[in-house]
Amino acid sequence: MNYDQLLSKRVSRMDVNILREILKSASRPGIISLAGGIPAPESFPTDIIAALTTTVLKTYGASALQYGPTEGFYPLREAVSHFIRKKGIMARPDDVQITSGSQGALDAIGKILISKGDKVAIESPTYLGALHAFNPYEPEYVRIEADEDGPIPEKLERLLESHKIKFIYLVPTFQNPTGNTISLKRRKEIADVICRQNALLVEDDPYSDLRYQGEDIIPIQTLATDHVIYLGTFSKILAPGLRVGYCLAPKAIKKWMIIAKQGIDLHTGSLSQAIASFYLTEGYIDDHLPLILNFYKPRLAAMLEGLEAYFPSGFSWSRPEGGMFVWVKGPEGLDMGRIHDEAFKENIAFVPGRYFHIGHREGLETMRLNFTMHDEKTIRNALHLLADILERNVSAGFHDQRVTSFSYA
Ligand SMILES: Cc1ncc(COP(=O)(O)O)c(C=O)c1O
Repeated sequence: MNYDQLLSKRVSRMDVNILREILKSASRPGIISLAGGIPAPESFPTDIIAALTTTVLKTYGASALQYGPTEGFYPLREAVSHFIRKKGIMARPDDVQITSGSQGALDAIGKILISKGDKVAIESPTYLGALHAFNPYEPEYVRIEADEDGPIPEKLERLLESHKIKFIYLVPTFQNPTGNTISLKRRKEIADVICRQNALLVEDDPYSDLRYQGEDIIPIQTLATDHVIYLGTFSKILAPGLRVGYCLAPKAIKKWMIIAKQGIDLHTGSLSQAIASFYLTEGYIDDHLPLILNFYKPRLAAMLEGLEAYFPSGFSWSRPEGGMFVWVKGPEGLDMGRIHDEAFKENIAFVPGRYFHIGHREGLETMRLNFTMHDEKTIRNALHLLADILERNVSAGFHDQRVTSFSYA
């Protein structure tokens, strides 16, 4: 049977996720992978989850295993509305929609907002998973010009004036892949722009709870509430396998998010939601989140120190105060795809940055490094090896190199 002929036209927009292939290869035994984008398993509170599973079943019995409302488990919606108050977000429990991770919300957003040819404004580089969620609905991506402080407000305003933009997608805090954070000043300016231009922003915020130093910065949602769909998640502060996230959206959009979710998965797992609710309300998060932060903080420090100590001149990198990633930029003309192939032979993996860009030849000289998965010593050793490979390439001259495809044989 020719199964291909059964597939919808839409699947042609669902590229094979190259990142998945890279991560698959990078997870082979013996590879030191700075490629991953996942939390360290040691950060998961398995004992707490075991205890909470018992508590949930004792408290709710079989109803914790029953179908539930699409909007989410009410005690969790209450707990989330309380939790996000610390971020400055004022929302009633009824305003909170529970989602299957932020990814579930991104999928619903694509479904309800994007028609073929609609323009979606994004940063480049940006989170690939968002593009994968949106791509089947055939948007046209428009790039927002940015500098180290984030999108440039004047450029954003010009873009909104000159294009009919359906929505803007941003990860303002410890962005994936760059680790960059939009400053408070910029957030205020961006909020002014979107209010003035009557635009809609999707603010994807999975990393702001992972702050190892510096001051929290309020979400753009707090500055332009009626213009923002805000996405949060338990994936980085509890466990991603529970698949629990949350979304706040203007009322008219929230209604459709719920209708879309009914078709996608009816609701997020009841047991996971109840566990997440006790995690917040019983104060487990207050003890456990500091442990996660203490666990990752030295890893980020080791990465930044290693880059400083070993990387050749001509390289620059982001200096995030949290999150999971550091972004490295090499001299123009360097092909990180080729470096990746070489590094892979020496059992080091990272993600070449070009995969996070919308333009085909953009970001060739960049790479994303993850610091959550290895201890400090391993991170330093991996960076030392990587620096040697970079040094070799830099001194050999690399300007004639072509973009190479990856080989994982
Ligand atoms: C920017 C961004 N958004 C969304 C997600 C998806 O997270 P979740 O596990 O909540 O679906 C990720 C995952 O790494 C991410 O980096």
